[in-house]
Amino acid sequence: MEYKKKTKTSAKIFAKSSKLHVHGVSHNIRFYEPYPFVVKSSTGKNLVDVDNNKYADYWMGHWSLILGHGQKNVKESLKKQIDKSWMFGTVNEQTIKLSELISKAVPVAEKIRYVTSGTEATMYAVRLARSVTGRKIIAKIDGGWHGYTSDLLKSVNWPFTEPESSGIINEEKIISIPYNDLDSSLKILKKHAKNLAGVIIEPVLGGGGCIPASKEYLIGIQEFVHKNNSLFILDEIVTGFRFRYGCIYPIMKLDPDIVTLGKIVGGGMAIGVMCGKKEIMEYADTVGKKKSERSYVGGGTFSANPVSMTSGYATLSYLKSKKSVYSKINSLGEFARKEIRKVFDGKVVVTGKGSLFMTHFLKDDITEVTNAVQAAKCDSQMLQRYHFKMISHDGIFFLPGKLGAISNAHSKDDIKKMILASENF
Ligand SMILES: Cc1ncc(COP(=O)(O)O)c(C=O)c1O
Repeated sequence: MEYKKKTKTSAKIFAKSSKLHVHGVSHNIRFYEPYPFVVKSSTGKNLVDVDNNKYADYWMGHWSLILGHGQKNVKESLKKQIDKSWMFGTVNEQTIKLSELISKAVPVAEKIRYVTSGTEATMYAVRLARSVTGRKIIAKIDGGWHGYTSDLLKSVNWPFTEPESSGIINEEKIISIPYNDLDSSLKILKKHAKNLAGVIIEPVLGGGGCIPASKEYLIGIQEFVHKNNSLFILDEIVTGFRFRYGCIYPIMKLDPDIVTLGKIVGGGMAIGVMCGKKEIMEYADTVGKKKSERSYVGGGTFSANPVSMTSGYATLSYLKSKKSVYSKINSLGEFARKEIRKVFDGKVVVTGKGSLFMTHFLKDDITEVTNAVQAAKCDSQMLQRYHFKMISHDGIFFLPGKLGAISNAHSKDDIKKMILASENF
């Protein structure tokens, strides 16, 4: 097998990894058959594995690296920061610099709290919504992915009927609603209106299939939520700073109460952000409040560490000064979607927005992909084979089965190579 021939060192190292780590990995989705190649370095658009194979990367660090791997400005800033040291555990100016950028670009970020993962940010958002409203139920989307917090680990993988994991309690406090189906969603929400603390939604369903929400859907859910004194939480961990300098919600004329960010705003270092309207975020202020009045949401040894703050600041500064990055990568995304559709001529739906795209091989009676159910009913094995063939034969890396992200380090030629590889497949 071509892959095994060219990844012999990876095979040896991964065997070692498997002895030490559960299933050889620390994030479940990083494993794929027969074994994942082991990366030794990365630069620009490329990953290089321990056998010196180079791959044009469309996974881009869980879609966090919008400027590509090892981008010069970010690297220089990080080197300077490392010289000053990397962990203070105290208030630092690097945090303030990043927050100034975020609060200008994301108007709802009147107050901000940093953590070191998206999972923590959404966990806190849920707790805050419960504190503010004094209610317990949180609604999420069928197929919505907000990280591994037990508070949201329900209805992630189709058919959404079984618990996602053992060890989760109070699952009945999480309800789920169908994406892009306003009438059915409102019907479910109405049943829980009095106990509904909030609804959390990704404006583009990421893990669930790279599917944009319609504006009418988001507005309709938001209207219901606000009418019933619940909170509207937008999870922009994937979408924040992905399509434009800022979030997606202002262009959809949305008015979220809490927004979560991550990935891009950390510039490739560990980060999670919970931000929102002042009067809501103030519940997290512990000073002068009884335990029963406050939302206890500020923790994390590495929260707002100077390294993450510095790489986030360098990344956002670069994006701010070069907004052409967005026109470039958004149009490359458009080009990729159009050309992939052409290659597979009626046999696929290519979903996505801007620089994010995902190919769904149609199966049975599925003709469109507007929610996670339709995405799950597509031929996921074919998608895995398509991605794996590009890894083993074409030097192109998508995490098998996942959406692709184009970075500023990619060129039109790269996309053309990927299209050619698709044709060969
Ligand atoms: C929309 C969304 N929210 C939350 C998370 C969790 O972020 P993290 O993996 O940093 O915990 C992810 C991760 O992919 C995500 O896509």
